[in-house]
Amino acid sequence: MKIKVLKTDSDTWQKDVLDCFTKNEPVALPTETVYGLAAPASSDLAIERIYEIKERPRFNPLILHVREDWKLDEFFEVNDLEKKLIEKFWPGPLSLLVKKKNVSDLVTAGSDYVVARAPAHPIFRQVLSALGAPLVAPSANSSTKLSPTTAQAVVEDLGTKLNLVVDGGICEWGVESTIVKVEGSSCLILREGALSREDIIAAGFKLQEPSSAEVSVTPGSQLKHYSPQIPLFLFENSEEWLKDAVAKTLFIQVLASDYKGSFPFQNLKILAPDDDFKTASKNLFDFLRSAQNAYSEIKVLKTKQVGLGRAINDRLERGSTRTK
Ligand code: TXA
Ligand code: MG
Repeated sequence: MKIKVLKTDSDTWQKDVLDCFTKNEPVALPTETVYGLAAPASSDLAIERIYEIKERPRFNPLILHVREDWKLDEFFEVNDLEKKLIEKFWPGPLSLLVKKKNVSDLVTAGSDYVVARAPAHPIFRQVLSALGAPLVAPSANSSTKLSPTTAQAVVEDLGTKLNLVVDGGICEWGVESTIVKVEGSSCLILREGALSREDIIAAGFKLQEPSSAEVSVTPGSQLKHYSPQIPLFLFENSEEWLKDAVAKTLFIQVLASDYKGSFPFQNLKILAPDDDFKTASKNLFDFLRSAQNAYSEIKVLKTKQVGLGRAINDRLERGSTRTK
């Protein structure tokens, strides 16, 4: 199978996407977080292909993607607090765990709850409108590997298994959506992501402190994830980080301000030279992916546990061979 990289300047790009869906073939589409491997939520065969292509364990459910301006109670139930979250943050990088209605067990891996989100990316939204029905879309990478933030990254990982990727350039956020569950009068974060705890609190919502018991609620959180093909070591402390290197070690710091001391080795990359977490998250998977080909190991200095820094540290921890 030869993958086609589709630009959206043609008149026919949406038709090409819908044609693939008719043949039960998923299509890689850009979202504002990462590229997703999309298929109609009603197509059992296309969903089966998603699991096959990603080599994803069948117990790991898929996110349902909708438009916020649809009649959502066709697909899931929302209470008052969930409705407020939707009004505030959709479209955007918030995913909600809600009680499902008319969503197949293949999407939710048998659960009565579905994780739903309304992506903000115009290309993804246009496909939703053209289809007129929800799409499922896990990140468009092989299971456990780095999430793709460019069409090129999708081609490198899944190019032999897919028909089509729509090129929307580099994703705005570069890390996945934040998954939230409403519990009583407050919100619980099941997966850290592009929408930060601070954003949720600033909008007037109560947030529960994470407890280790709850981290296992999202099946995908238990898996090894986000791993580059070379060892990645994560360090809390800059002295440990800079202790030693081999010839092809790439050092990475997240913000310029995370470390300002002298640097004794050859190769240092700073994810955010402008010290903005958003620049860092946008570059994260892209930098790790290009490092795979040029270096033999990566040593990263952890960043501050605030704002988007939490999602960045989370992805680094799960992708790391060892945390120091
Ligand atoms: O930003 C995003 O959310 C991207 C873009 C493409 O939309 N999608 C994404 O999907 O990150 P995926 O499949 O890579 O990660 C979804 C996570 C997994 O950890 C999965 O276990 C969890 O959401 N999840 C999905 N449905 C669930 C459900 N019904 N109950 C609990 N966890 C669920
Ligand atoms: Mg993923």
